Amino acid sequence: MNWSGLDEAALAGVAQALGRVMGSSGIVYLEGDLGAGKSTFVRALLGARGVGERIKSPTYSLIETYPVAGNSAHHLDLYRIANADELEWLGLPDLLDESTLLLVEWPERAAGALPPPDLRVLLQHAGSRRDLALESCTATAGKWLSDLEMNTPGLPSRSC
Ligand SMILES: Nc1ncnc2c1ncn2[C@@H]1O[C@H](COP(=O)(O)OP(=O)(O)OP(=O)(O)O)[C@@H](O)[C@H]1O
Ligand SMILES: [Mg+2]
Repeated sequence: MNWSGLDEAALAGVAQALGRVMGSSGIVYLEGDLGAGKSTFVRALLGARGVGERIKSPTYSLIETYPVAGNSAHHLDLYRIANADELEWLGLPDLLDESTLLLVEWPERAAGALPPPDLRVLLQHAGSRRDLALESCTATAGKWLSDLEMNTPGLPSRSC
């Protein structure tokens, strides 16, 4: 699913809608340059899943964890890691065992150390706006996107 030239409110609207339809576990990669809107997308998505507290950017902490409906959501920002070894202390296998939601900014910094995504969120600067693509890689995320398409009145109009 693709959108062109979204302003910040429209981008947040798509993220909120996705947050409402997606299941409670899965792996989401957020890809795009500095300032492309990855954290903005995560904030809106987690807000829609009921996270009331302020959602900080985990640029320095690498990971922030939030309780979501009896489960947890982990927001990772791997921008500052030099190589995948630095991920060891995160205890990634344990995080994954929890069958939780993992939202990862800069996944390419840990190439090979992360499990493959269910969903890729691809963001690009388009002047002061942003282009967005949601790409499902698994049947799990395919279901999220079909629910998004079918059950979300008022979603910004798509470019394809
Ligand atoms: N259409 C838009 N969508 C998202 N953010 C926008 C948009 N227009 C302007 N912005 C601004 O762009 C910035 C996006 O920052 P954000 O932290 O979400 O990016 P990021 O991709 O997480 O960057 P980083 O790689 O540094 O983590 C914010 O200051 C936001 O207000
Ligand atoms: Mg960010």
